Amino acid sequence: MCSSAGGGSRSEHAIGILNNSPPPAIDIRRISMNESLIKLDGVSKTFSIGEEKVFALKEVDLTIKKNQFIMILGPSGSGKSTLMNLLGCLDVPSSGAIYLGEKDISQMSQDDLASIRAKKIGFVFQKFNLIPTLSALQNVSLPSVFQGKTLTEKAEMLLSFVGLQHRLNHRPTQLSGGEQQRVAIARSLINDPEIILADEPTGNLDTKTGNIVMNLLKKLHSQGKTIILVTHNPVLEKYAQRIIKIKDGKVEEKK
Ligand SMILES: Nc1ncnc2c1ncn2[C@@H]1O[C@H](COP(=O)(O)OP(=O)(O)O)[C@@H](O)[C@H]1O
Ligand SMILES: [Mg+2]
Repeated sequence: MCSSAGGGSRSEHAIGILNNSPPPAIDIRRISMNESLIKLDGVSKTFSIGEEKVFALKEVDLTIKKNQFIMILGPSGSGKSTLMNLLGCLDVPSSGAIYLGEKDISQMSQDDLASIRAKKIGFVFQKFNLIPTLSALQNVSLPSVFQGKTLTEKAEMLLSFVGLQHRLNHRPTQLSGGEQQRVAIARSLINDPEIILADEPTGNLDTKTGNIVMNLLKKLHSQGKTIILVTHNPVLEKYAQRIIKIKDGKVEEKK
């Protein structure tokens, strides 16, 4: 089993990791806060089914700045997951450009996209997507294994950060839905991504457990992460700084 590094609680250490403590004399994070992190320029996505064309996204312009908490809100079939897949470098647009920082990623190869995803983006899904045969600790450390390092101690600290220090060796089926989603949040943080993309993270949870998950995302936002949350549920609006509404593949700003 892993040992704690130095004094203080595990969750304090985890927060230290997230903040890259100790803080610099000048807060660089604040200076760069207005920078554009992701920019979509006239992005459309079309799917073909036989002769038929489905226009899932139409001419979307969108700029997401560092350290924003953004909610993408829209009914089923409006294009949320399509937009999420483009923002998360899981897919490329049919036309238009997507910039991550200065880089146009819209024409990149699958391998290059995978490399960007691994370093920059943490994913949280509605159905948790944990590996059933692995323990909570192994699930959290897994993305670091794919990066050629096994960050077991950091995984333990992140599980402590989400309040699951007593569930390290439980498998997903031995955990409640809310606990599984907290494991998934810990997993999303293991490679220290700048952006957390969450697709209906409370969709399979009751209201009370959903609030715990939302408060964790809020805490990560306050610690400098950029949070992009996709949902059909307007009740979650109160957590976000900025609401983007999507309807029939078109994006409109709400606040
Ligand atoms: N791989 C695909 N092939 C064909 N049509 C698709 C595909 N993915 C999504 N669509 C269509 O694009 C539209 C938007 O889908 P989606 O982004 O999944 O919406 P949401 O996540 O808001 O429910 C829907 O009409 C859907 O049927
Ligand atoms: Mg969807």
